[in-house]
Amino acid sequence: MMIKRGRKLRKSQNLRDLVQETVLSVNDLIQPIFIIEGKNKSEKISSMPGIKRRSLDLQLDYINKLIKRGIKSIILFPSIDEKRKNSKATEALNPKGLIPKAIQKIKKQFPDLVLITDIALDPYNSDGHDGILKNNEILNDETVSVLVKQALLHAKCGADFVSPSDMMDGRVFKIRETLDKKGFHNTGIISYAAKFASCLYGPFRDALNSEPKKGNKKSYQLNPANSDEALKELIDDESEGADMLIVKPASLYLDIIHKANSSSLIPIIAYQVSGEYSMIKVSAKNNLIDLDSAIFESLISMKRAGATLIISYFAEYIADKLNKI
Ligand code: PBG
Repeated sequence: MMIKRGRKLRKSQNLRDLVQETVLSVNDLIQPIFIIEGKNKSEKISSMPGIKRRSLDLQLDYINKLIKRGIKSIILFPSIDEKRKNSKATEALNPKGLIPKAIQKIKKQFPDLVLITDIALDPYNSDGHDGILKNNEILNDETVSVLVKQALLHAKCGADFVSPSDMMDGRVFKIRETLDKKGFHNTGIISYAAKFASCLYGPFRDALNSEPKKGNKKSYQLNPANSDEALKELIDDESEGADMLIVKPASLYLDIIHKANSSSLIPIIAYQVSGEYSMIKVSAKNNLIDLDSAIFESLISMKRAGATLIISYFAEYIADKLNKI
């Protein structure tokens, strides 16, 4: 038996470049954006160093910068004033609300940008849950009927994709049915199909002040111990009419991304969530790891696992580096 000398392929940078199997490009990246009410407002998010909540006027400038860097898609999240929140999340359906106004303005100014909106009730719900809470239960079908209206409102305002992140049963089918019935055949659905009940959403809930007031999200989000159940959710959402599927969080769930990609024919999106962002950012700030290497390694691992696209708070930052490679 001869020694197998695999290092021949790792001899020089040129050779390493030639045999590289997976690449990361600016086309892979979607930037999440936090919007607040008002004008000329910009707020730091203490749990996500480097990320800001901004009023729409300032976000429009920021989006312009993203587009110049080659970013082609964003996903919007609203930070709603506490006084507008209630237990039925009615602000989610306000046609003059923060998100409907933002969709219209963004699409008017940047018609080619692929605009994704989040469909869920937690930013608007005084209980902090993605669905309507009654007697300690998150009501499924009642929530879905509100989500359908929210999705239709976003479609009417011009969203390219609506993205249900609530994990209620049957919502993809109901949203698809209504969008088609109302003539929005071209509005797509990106489903958070495999969303785990993760500790890694903490900084995001801080950003939106949307921490559940009571209980947790385990009756709708997936148990981190389960893989078959995640796959079932992905398959169900594809058959209900989803155009793309999200696995979330990403780094601790690369096996799920891999399985999702093997069992589905539509694009899989990895969501590198707020906690993943902050862990890297804070470790780098403390000189424990190198920021750029950590970002590249984390994002390329998601692509290697089978993600077609990645939602990442690092999108803007890393796009600049990718453009220089
Ligand atoms: C809720 C929603 C969450 C995120 C996106 N949509 C948080 C949650 O489920 O509590 C998390 C995103 C992140 O952590 O970056 N509908």
